[in-house]
Amino acid sequence: MLIAFEGIDGSGKTTQAELLNARLTREGVPNRLVREPGGTRLGEGVRDLLLHRTDLKISPVTEFLLFSASRAQLVSEIVMPLLAEGNAVILDRYFYSSVAYQGFGRGVGIEEIEMVSRVATGGLVPDVVFLVELDLEEAIRRREMEGRRADRMENAEIEFFKRVIHGFSECARKEPNRFVLVDGRAPIEVTAEKIFKDVMFRIKNVAEEKNAP
Ligand SMILES: Nc1ncnc2c1ncn2[C@@H]1O[C@H](COP(=O)(O)OP(=O)(O)O)[C@@H](O)[C@H]1O
Ligand SMILES: [Mg+2]
Repeated sequence: MLIAFEGIDGSGKTTQAELLNARLTREGVPNRLVREPGGTRLGEGVRDLLLHRTDLKISPVTEFLLFSASRAQLVSEIVMPLLAEGNAVILDRYFYSSVAYQGFGRGVGIEEIEMVSRVATGGLVPDVVFLVELDLEEAIRRREMEGRRADRMENAEIEFFKRVIHGFSECARKEPNRFVLVDGRAPIEVTAEKIFKDVMFRIKNVAEEKNAP
């Protein structure tokens, strides 16, 4: 079972992914939480390039390809083996983030992103994607509360985030059976319970399908 969390920065993905990880473990469901770049040596190198090497010029397409390279390594080195061993794998972001950020946000072609992502992931798509939806105002409020930015968001950045939010909605619209929309403003524990129940339901269904004659 492959479970992905998607949504804009500050929406609550990591909070929910960690709660699900802990709850599944308590219930005896073997599972692992994996965060992009997810602890591959290559992924750490790419992350360093993207976050810290401010001296480098990185175009939107280059940025997308770097994320994809890191994702490809994560899938082959970590995710595939974990799934093969029978673990549920929880991903804190996956290729839908590339569709939303580099695609809708920065203007890289959506079809091209989908095509390259298929190559990068070997076609591995999540059984379920929890899209944590949060409006821009609340996302900005949370950012400021965390003191991650003292200065106000620039207009260009606000427009960028609006496109990203729209991009995630489009992903969900295209794959309504794969996506579960989660209200990012709902109380953390209420959401965690809903997500846990949803995942357990899916795990049981898969087990029953396997046991069916
Ligand atoms: N449902 C929620 N209601 C209020 N605050 C939340 C909620 N979920 C997460 N937060 C808070 O919002 C901030 C960002 O959450 P986080 O899980 O790190 O988001 P993400 O991983 O999507 O960037 C954290 O301070 C977290 O405690
Ligand atoms: Mg996070």
